[in-house]
Amino acid sequence: MAVVLRLLHFLVLVYVSYIPLALAQDKNGFIYNGFHDQANLDLDGIAEIHSNGLLQLTNLSRQEVGRAFFHFPMKFNTSSSNPTSSLSFSTNFVFAMAPQVKNLGGHGIAFTICPSKNFSHALLNRYLGLFNNSNNGNSTNHILAIELDTVLDPEFEDITMNHVGIDVNGMKSVASAPAMYFSNKEGKNISLELMSGNPMHLWIDYDEAEKLLNVTLAPTTIPKPNRPLLSTHIDLSQILLESMYVGFSSATGTLASDHYILGWSFNKSGPAQSLGVSSLPRLPRERKRKEKPSVMIMIALIAVAVALITVIGAAYILRRKKYEEIREDWEEEYGPHRFSYKNLHKATKGFKDTELLGEGGFGKVYIGILPSSNVQIAVKRVSHDSKQGMEEFVAEIVSMGRLRHRNLVQLLGYCRRRGELLLVYDYMPNGSLDKFLYSKEKPNLNWVQRFRIIRGVASGLLYLHEEWEQVVLHRDIKASNVLLDAELNGRLGDFGLARLYDHGSNPQTTHVVGTVGYLAPEFYRTGRANTCTDVFAFGAFLLEVACGRRPIELQAQGLPEQVILVDLVAECCRRGAILDASDPRLEGNYVAEEMELVLKLGLFCSDTIPAARPSMKQVMQFLDGDADLRESPHDVSASFTAFTITESYDFMSSQASVASMSSTGSFLRGGR
Ligand SMILES: *[C@@H]1O[C@H](CO)[C@@H](O)[C@H](O)[C@H]1NC(C)=O
Ligand SMILES: *[C@@H]1O[C@H](CO)[C@@H](O)[C@H](O)[C@H]1NC(C)=O
Repeated sequence: MAVVLRLLHFLVLVYVSYIPLALAQDKNGFIYNGFHDQANLDLDGIAEIHSNGLLQLTNLSRQEVGRAFFHFPMKFNTSSSNPTSSLSFSTNFVFAMAPQVKNLGGHGIAFTICPSKNFSHALLNRYLGLFNNSNNGNSTNHILAIELDTVLDPEFEDITMNHVGIDVNGMKSVASAPAMYFSNKEGKNISLELMSGNPMHLWIDYDEAEKLLNVTLAPTTIPKPNRPLLSTHIDLSQILLESMYVGFSSATGTLASDHYILGWSFNKSGPAQSLGVSSLPRLPRERKRKEKPSVMIMIALIAVAVALITVIGAAYILRRKKYEEIREDWEEEYGPHRFSYKNLHKATKGFKDTELLGEGGFGKVYIGILPSSNVQIAVKRVSHDSKQGMEEFVAEIVSMGRLRHRNLVQLLGYCRRRGELLLVYDYMPNGSLDKFLYSKEKPNLNWVQRFRIIRGVASGLLYLHEEWEQVVLHRDIKASNVLLDAELNGRLGDFGLARLYDHGSNPQTTHVVGTVGYLAPEFYRTGRANTCTDVFAFGAFLLEVACGRRPIELQAQGLPEQVILVDLVAECCRRGAILDASDPRLEGNYVAEEMELVLKLGLFCSDTIPAARPSMKQVMQFLDGDADLRESPHDVSASFTAFTITESYDFMSSQASVASMSSTGSFLRGGR
């Protein structure tokens, strides 16, 4: 009996002392030094736990979300003096983000305190799987998130592509700072690259008494810095509810990255326990690097390598010509935006005709799949003989890559070869809008879809004109330059490309940039593009989408006579029957007020007097219903005369395709 008791006693001792190591989790706190058993962790989306205990929230799959929440809710209570149910909390975790392409990757990770684990209504990418575009910012969300954000989204007033932010109920941070840490040793702040693939440590501590939220970042190689990165006074009593879940949400967008959590400690009733950084699971890439092959294997490998290098070297010299690029010293700083020709060649199967998506004014466009990441891209091959002006143009291309708006086709980077320039864009699965409007292969778009596309394009153009740091002119707005993404959102493509034809060409022989029917009358006289000429083209685009007809339809296209769309609409307007101009394919299924608004706005933008046209800001206000077109001083039907357009069109025909005009740049430097 005594022996049995003793044994029992021993077993209890072993069990009790084992608890803090493996299972130190209760409902007020827990610590995961690696997630070796999934106990009490709820995974959602593509999140998974590797056999070594590594929690992977997202991988290189695009447009995905991964979440992990602690199974039990935590008690947060304003009215209680009990420390375990106060609003104070303390947590720290080690994370890593590894991008698919150097410096370009998916959205980020958010540590989240939220009332529910159900995020089925939330959107991915820019909303980090936490909000959608209608509940973003609502105080009824009761969500606190600390975002590790690797995308600069101007709509959310993000400060850099590499920042840490405190988000309350929405994606616009209440406080944020570029990623860096305070080095106790050196006594200064040192920058960190969140998306470096290296593990990093984040501490989040809230003190209810001081109403102070501290967020501290550091590499895992050093202890917690003395100074936090963010230290913000914030009253969580309005935000947190009594029962809240804690966890992580992470999302990828058109670009993706691997997002990992290596360890996580949380405590509701005092400082969170420190993680055993050295015992955390290794990252896949890191592990590979650390494997040390034995000497024999190494020698064998070296021998094989030498042989291979000789063979590959010979092959390389032969193939080099095929993949030859032009690279100059000034391009060094654009390194991250540069794609290798070889990769683009592979991605597009050697620019095979079967991969051809279309042929635009500036060159052929191919679909491709980047070999390293399986990301779909569109590659535009623009032939360009001149070296002159290239440096300035590439600088603009790179800065356009920084433009981010959901209604612009994202430019990912470029590559240069002799005589040609390759531009890499996000792939738009639904192709261009004109195919939907005019070809029989694509389904008809209903009015709701068309109106949404119109508003999207307007908001993209407003961003280019007024919301970015410089004024960017598009200069070739038309239905064939509006691309549709998977959700049929309209996105403007080809912005600024017109500039290429200004650079490096003799000003006396510059092509007219733009497209007949969309070019403002004054452009034919002055050759100058500005925001008013863009608005004119946007007007032609509005009419095109509403009427389902091109701005100018020629006799040759099987019509009894040449149709100038703007004349036709103006004529209907004068007759007081403007809706007659609407696209017959809609069969009258549209919101009459919206149709009338779009048609009248189209005429307003097509005014022959540049100053009489609305700005894109006004256009947006009309479309959003924030301003009433009928109350605007402009009388659409009276001031409009189509004469100038007809005249310029005749002028164009007589001048054949090359007219001698030069134009100003797509960037109006110093414009604001
Ligand atoms: C990402 O993870 C999901 C779920 O585990 C898997 O189906 C998918 O193939 C993965 N994608 C990549 C690119 O590894
Ligand atoms: C946004 O999310 C809320 C729940 O938080 C949901 O009620 C609403 O329907 C969602 N809206 C959209 C447009 O998905």
